[in-house]
Amino acid sequence: MRAAFATRFDDANPLSALVVGEQPEPEQRDGWTTVEVRSSSLNHHDLWSLRGVGLREQQLPMILGCDAAGVAPGGEEVVVYPVVTTPSDPRGYSLLSEHFPGTLAERVAVPVENLVPKPADLSWEDAACLPTAWLTAYRMLTTKGRVDETDAVLIQGAGGGVATAAALIAVAMDKRVYVTSRDAKKRERISALGATALEPGARLPERVGVVIETVGEATFEHSLKASAPGARIVVSGATSGHLPKFDLRRVYAMQLEILGSSMGTPGELAALLAFCADKAIRPVVDEVIGFSEVERAFERLHEGGVFGKLVLDHTR
Ligand SMILES: NC(=O)c1ccc[n+]([C@@H]2O[C@H](COP(=O)([O-])OP(=O)(O)OC[C@H]3O[C@@H](n4cnc5c(N)ncnc54)[C@H](OP(=O)(O)O)[C@@H]3O)[C@@H](O)[C@H]2O)c1
Repeated sequence: MRAAFATRFDDANPLSALVVGEQPEPEQRDGWTTVEVRSSSLNHHDLWSLRGVGLREQQLPMILGCDAAGVAPGGEEVVVYPVVTTPSDPRGYSLLSEHFPGTLAERVAVPVENLVPKPADLSWEDAACLPTAWLTAYRMLTTKGRVDETDAVLIQGAGGGVATAAALIAVAMDKRVYVTSRDAKKRERISALGATALEPGARLPERVGVVIETVGEATFEHSLKASAPGARIVVSGATSGHLPKFDLRRVYAMQLEILGSSMGTPGELAALLAFCADKAIRPVVDEVIGFSEVERAFERLHEGGVFGKLVLDHTR
């Protein structure tokens, strides 16, 4: 079957490690089923995989991709929950494309319990955005960030899949939402979604109770400075670097909580789907690209100019 996969790693030039071609059909395992993929979406995770982050040589070749929506063998339209229990992994779980082949293929195998019914009013494209970026943002805000306890939220890096999701969700929750971006056009676009856009490092009009951090080194000090006493800084990524330098005195004097977060539970995915339906919010999709142009989609993600999600249409 047609797939996009890694056969080697290249930290400096991850796009050079991407191969599009034939891969074997999904393996049949007890309790697993195979989904015919209709749409998938790219995540920064796919670039990390090409760089060799989270993958080992012996796992190659590995089909990339965490997110998919598609059709189960009985004809049900489903969203794929991408977290798989994996006892051999120190985390106890892995994402599709880490230990098991990912979603950037004609078909993907997943445990039966990972199939979530696709709401009928959700398009294939929108459905493929939710399982990783949107689920991560939802858990960061709710379970980890306890966003109910504050009126103001800071999100670092406006353009990202997680960041745009967090912004839309927090705006829909009637929070005051501040978002930073290096890019003036992205600041304009995030403002149009109801957030207040700021340049990186800018002073906020108020301190916030929750910070959504996926950028890391470039923004972490600002996240600390923008935090109100007792704020939760929720970290799920470190795109710009994972070794920030910061002043620990601020952490204890302001009694801040720095919380790690990854993906979310099936219950949180169900809650997210219900929330999106209730508030009538949909993912920000930058572009829907035919799978035949998957290399171009990766180029766009790598360039960093994307606002929201890049979706792949597997029917073309
Ligand atoms: N732990 C988990 O479960 C989980 C789940 C999803 C994502 N993640 C991680 O979260 C991060 C974001 O993922 P994504 O898929 O949303 O990525 P993405 O769509 O590629 O977005 C990248 C983001 O990083 C910002 N950025 C990149 N380099 C930067 C720099 N040097 N300075 C400031 N900002 C920079 C961009 O902000 P601007 O261009 O607007 O400035 C943009 O918001 C990735 O590292 C990913 O691995 C983790």
